Amino acid sequence: MPADAPTLAPKRARILALANQKGGVGKTTTTINLGTALAATGKRVLIVDNDPQGNASTGLGIGRTERGTGTYELLFGETTVADSVRGTSIPKLFVVTATADLSGAELELVELERREFRLRDALAGVAADYDYILIDCPPALGLLTLNALAAADSVLVPLQCEFYALEGLSQLIRTIERVKRTFNPALEIQGVVLTMFDRRNNLSDMVAADVRGFFGEKVYETVIPRNVRVSEAPSHGKPVLLYDLKSAGAQAYIHLAGEVLKRERNRQSAHG
Ligand SMILES: Nc1ncnc2c1ncn2[C@@H]1O[C@H](COP(=O)(O)OP(=O)(O)OP(=O)(O)O)[C@@H](O)[C@H]1O
Ligand SMILES: [Mg+2]
Repeated sequence: MPADAPTLAPKRARILALANQKGGVGKTTTTINLGTALAATGKRVLIVDNDPQGNASTGLGIGRTERGTGTYELLFGETTVADSVRGTSIPKLFVVTATADLSGAELELVELERREFRLRDALAGVAADYDYILIDCPPALGLLTLNALAAADSVLVPLQCEFYALEGLSQLIRTIERVKRTFNPALEIQGVVLTMFDRRNNLSDMVAADVRGFFGEKVYETVIPRNVRVSEAPSHGKPVLLYDLKSAGAQAYIHLAGEVLKRERNRQSAHG
């Protein structure tokens, strides 16, 4: 190669943790559908199902009996991403599944060395193989979520448009700040996404305004509407983008992916 040839920096996946310790706010739905929308733009995407409930795996059509090794084995150094990764029905979208064993991981991890860094260490080896790695977190701020936050470049926080949306959020933010101080100084919040917005309900508007007042520009313009097609899709083992592309939910996730990519481009040009 001539000395003045442009050198391409090795690709390194951007790692996004989808986190909120509140249950049922749309973490998994957002992981699956944002992942699908990113893959549809040609990005190579890996979803890590880091929740013992395994909803991301189910939603991608991988039933409980057909999961083999997954995140549990990854955290305990018993497998690699390369050996445990599975394809999905979407080209360029891959998943490391969660098996029931993962429910024991919170306790078992306590005993291990580098207990907060197990996922980061496991993902380091595949950083060049993907453009985006999305980690679906459980509804808790225990070691599984800490592992995701330690591995991530940024956090995407789904917030459900309901009365208690902001409740508990200060705890999440304190946790993110603590992870930043202690083991991941570069961690940032990519954005906050409002989910299950019901336009017939004034409360949704009030909550959205409140959240925007609190988080300002961190809140994505895209709001995910409450949409029955979104909730039906997982029982068919499909992202809503495959189940009903024209649905309001699928279209919203396509918009969200556009915003996520735009933020990534802006960040890249700001950081050179
Ligand atoms: N936009 C939407 N419209 C209608 N239903 C939705 C929408 N988003 C999510 N749901 C439904 O709400 C429920 C909770 O969503 P989801 O599983 O994504 O939340 P979660 O934060 O991952 O939950 P957990 O904390 O248990 O992991 C699911 O039944 C899902 O199908
Ligand atoms: Mg979930």
